[in-house]
Amino acid sequence: MLAAATALRPAQATAATTDAIPFHGEHQAGIATPQQSQVAFMAFDVAGKDRAALAALLRGWTDAARRLTAGQAVDGDGGSANGLGPARLTLTFGFGPGLFTPGRFGLETRRPDALAELPRFNGDQLDPARSGGDLAVQACADDPQVALHAVRELARLAYGAAFPRWMQTGFLPDAPSGETPRNLMGFRDGTRNLTPGTEAFDQGVWAGDEGPAWMRGGSYLVARRIRIALEHWDRTDVDFQEQTIGRAKASGAPLGARAEHDTPDFNLADKDGNPLIGERAHLRLGAPETNSGAAMLRRGYGYNDGLAFTAERWPPWRQGMLLDAGLFFLAYQRDPRTAFTKVFARMAKLDMLNQYTTHTGSAVFACPPGVQVGRYIGETLLA
Ligand code: HEM
Repeated sequence: MLAAATALRPAQATAATTDAIPFHGEHQAGIATPQQSQVAFMAFDVAGKDRAALAALLRGWTDAARRLTAGQAVDGDGGSANGLGPARLTLTFGFGPGLFTPGRFGLETRRPDALAELPRFNGDQLDPARSGGDLAVQACADDPQVALHAVRELARLAYGAAFPRWMQTGFLPDAPSGETPRNLMGFRDGTRNLTPGTEAFDQGVWAGDEGPAWMRGGSYLVARRIRIALEHWDRTDVDFQEQTIGRAKASGAPLGARAEHDTPDFNLADKDGNPLIGERAHLRLGAPETNSGAAMLRRGYGYNDGLAFTAERWPPWRQGMLLDAGLFFLAYQRDPRTAFTKVFARMAKLDMLNQYTTHTGSAVFACPPGVQVGRYIGETLLA
């Protein structure tokens, strides 16, 4: 049984920007780390086929990451984070399936089965320019400029060896102390998530002996850029919104329960025998209880990229300038085939939430284990 999530709440606004998160460790930081308020995420394509050049890039990135996460400048630093402090910056690196393409870096036999390309899901409207990538850097911090600065510096250091492919920034609100933050739909998001320090977290997030040794202690990241038709949502009755999610909007309690952290009871029904948490409610479709125990760590952020010309997929079928805003969904797991892909394959067909959401970007990355002093990220793969 999963414990109620508390540990991944964003740091409060009062958190000192002088706080630094240790870069070294068994696991990469930025996964079990309590969620910072900002993300700047960049995916890269690697130029060329030279394995030694790839190793040099990762060695350089690791050295830079050590400095940046400690609030220090790197060689030739542009200075946009001068004086801002570490702001709990974490830099988490991932490897895309493209690195393992036969004939490229000679890594094809080292590709983990878990790093399978995601299948096409019902309703996907993926933009290739916002999807995929050979390498990924997730920069999270409590200051947006610290996160962006780190990504810019890593892109500058990679110049000639790897080039930016797509980027997404995102944010979380400073929820009142102890409260689960609300997402752009106004619902508390993250109530039932894997909690660091529990066995369920360790089992569900970290890769073990089932795959290649170089990934042991690492994790697989699925990134999805999900636009939400917020104008449509904002004109929807709260009753229907609650049926869509399966929780009460104000309290966050599962329908039929009293308090936010009460365990949802999927068997409760009204006097006519209709389930209180509907068959197509997001909560039911995401719950481990209805997915043979499948669970993942959700560590996503809201995003707002302004207005864009879009068409809604469902009535009232409007087209025109709508907010290009939503959820930059980031989920870490031990194996996407038995976590994200398993859960979302059904969700994509049935979820009431699909009336409001459109997946416009997608990527999957193998995030290797953490490093010790003197080693570099990905050394277990490339050495
Ligand atoms: C814009 C898109 C989405 C929004 C706004 C959204 C929102 C929410 C909300 C409000 C909850 C209930 C609070 C909680 O238990 O944390 C929730 C739960 C959950 N969502 Fe989503 N979600 C979205 C997309 C997804 C996707 C793509 C997945 C992929 C599998 C997913 C998986 C889950 C899971 C596993 C739970 C927890 C269910 C449980 O254990 O009870 N969500 N989501």
